Amino acid sequence: MSAIALYAKPSPDFAEKLVHSLALLKTAAADYSPLTQASSLGAEDMVVTHLMHEAGLFDTAGVSIFVLDTGMLHAETVALIGRIEERYPVKVDVYRPDLETANAFVQANGSEAMYKSLALRKQCCHIRKMAPLARALAGKKGWLTGLRREQSAARAEVHDIEQQPERAKVNPLVEWTQGDIWHCISINAIPYNPLHDQFFPSIGCAPCTRAVTLGEDFRSGRWWWENESAKECGLHVAADGTHEAQEPAAFEPLSSIIPIREIQA
Ligand code: ADX
Ligand code: SF4
Repeated sequence: MSAIALYAKPSPDFAEKLVHSLALLKTAAADYSPLTQASSLGAEDMVVTHLMHEAGLFDTAGVSIFVLDTGMLHAETVALIGRIEERYPVKVDVYRPDLETANAFVQANGSEAMYKSLALRKQCCHIRKMAPLARALAGKKGWLTGLRREQSAARAEVHDIEQQPERAKVNPLVEWTQGDIWHCISINAIPYNPLHDQFFPSIGCAPCTRAVTLGEDFRSGRWWWENESAKECGLHVAADGTHEAQEPAAFEPLSSIIPIREIQA
């Protein structure tokens, strides 16, 4: 069943939310240039990219998009980079982990290290996401994300604009529901990851993402073997450590069914 058929259902105030998000994007481009969008290539981020286009941001100097290609993404996810560049007048910047460090980690800890302990999982996220993120954000005054309050308890307090020590983090979709996201994708024929049609509502790295069943929370397929409070990779942990992760109570490695590849040069 397609994700559009399953989820597209606008809120009664969808039109107002759209106007607000477009205005916020224009403000962000004016106030926080150079401004960059962090795109995981998930449904929310595809909507943000589309709204950036609608708001005329790609005609503005100092606006860019980046993807952190961890080397562990599904092929369907990576293919969206080309689909963005075909549809919108923008070139996507791709940041990858340091090859030697990533391969040394796999050599030392195995390709299933993320299931063995929270410390190893976080180390993998650090090498493959956090270190490249620091490079992607260097010199930027603002960054855009697709965070929504509805996504998890840890994200319930996310604001439109959050001042971080070195730059502003701008979240144009905080009030959007999952129904709003899919409605917007549907009416604008925004490209999206075909895995969303196979019950993957939230998509990250292949070893750390699984499909969900009907009725399950939409982030329940991410790091599913960990406690709810641990389910962040560090990209969006509050400066005060509010969402610091706990050791997992138990884990159930399903990685035998998910191929893990080493990063190619
Ligand atoms: S995560 O922290 O659990 O991985 P999630 O997949 O919900 O995050 O995405 C939240 C936001 O983090 C996205 O809207 C995007 O802005 C940013 N993000 C997550 N993964 C990536 C990635 N691989 N590349 C760039 N930005 C990302
Ligand atoms: Fe590694 Fe999983 Fe984190 Fe991706 S999400 S960087 S594979 S631990």
